[in-house]
Amino acid sequence: MQNGSLPPAQAPSGPSGSSAGKDGTGSLYGGVTSRRVTVRDLAAAKARGERWAMLTAYDAMTAGVFDEAGIPVLLVGDSMGNCHLGYDTTVPVTMDEIAMLSAAVVRGTQRALIVADLPFGSYQESPAQALRNAVRLMKEAGVHAVKLEGGERSAPAIEMLVQAGVPVMAHLGLTPQSVHALGGYPVQGRGDEAAHQLLRDAKTVQSAGAFSVVLEAVPAELATQVTHELHIPTVGIGAGVGCDAQVLVWTDMAGMTAGRVPKFVKQYANLRAELGRAATEYMDEVRSGSFPAEKHTFH
Ligand code: KIV
Repeated sequence: MQNGSLPPAQAPSGPSGSSAGKDGTGSLYGGVTSRRVTVRDLAAAKARGERWAMLTAYDAMTAGVFDEAGIPVLLVGDSMGNCHLGYDTTVPVTMDEIAMLSAAVVRGTQRALIVADLPFGSYQESPAQALRNAVRLMKEAGVHAVKLEGGERSAPAIEMLVQAGVPVMAHLGLTPQSVHALGGYPVQGRGDEAAHQLLRDAKTVQSAGAFSVVLEAVPAELATQVTHELHIPTVGIGAGVGCDAQVLVWTDMAGMTAGRVPKFVKQYANLRAELGRAATEYMDEVRSGSFPAEKHTFH
């Protein structure tokens, strides 16, 4: 199958209805099945040119909705800091927070591959620190892979995790854990030198053993070039259509986020308005006495 001709997500297909074959062949799309999507399935999808979608998730209920919809990979992102926990940035997010919400996402899903972020300060000290925290997320929360930010600087950590059997998703371009060093959230990889560095970083994380790499806020042409030069899948966010996969923060995608969202976000729903409307209607009915009605009442 060529890029651009994705099959639609199908209805749940039952225990034997997996369309991602046992050997990593077949479409990634297919709803609830008896086994999880694996990193081998993602490698096979790249080989046959099948694009895939990743969403963030921070709780069991929402993760279950995305799993039933057929989203093959869910990220328990440290964007939970901004989107779920009320922090201004991802920087304050702790291992305890990631571990607790990751466990909920794993419990709420049957099919998706669950990737958890290693939060700021949980892997930069040493590869051994990275391994200790990744192992905690796999043992305690049951996640299937971890993600960490950085290219050449993170390669020793990636190597140690991969050697220990931890699948690693790398993250290049705009790395939000460095927000204070970057002075905000500027587009990355502009200009020849920055583009060459990003390409070098991408090849380095691939050589270190990463099974895929997120490219955040980089020019589309550069992301396309990286995608062609790597054999592992690239996952774009603000990186154009040339990546192997796309990721969005679910609260942005579903219109839950208050205020402005980044240019690269498409809002597929307006849940914030809908939830607000439901809460207002409920409040008004309680005030007027029209809720609870007779049908909601025991005698
Ligand atoms: O934390 C997150 O949600 C992420 C994605 C934006 C890739 O890292």
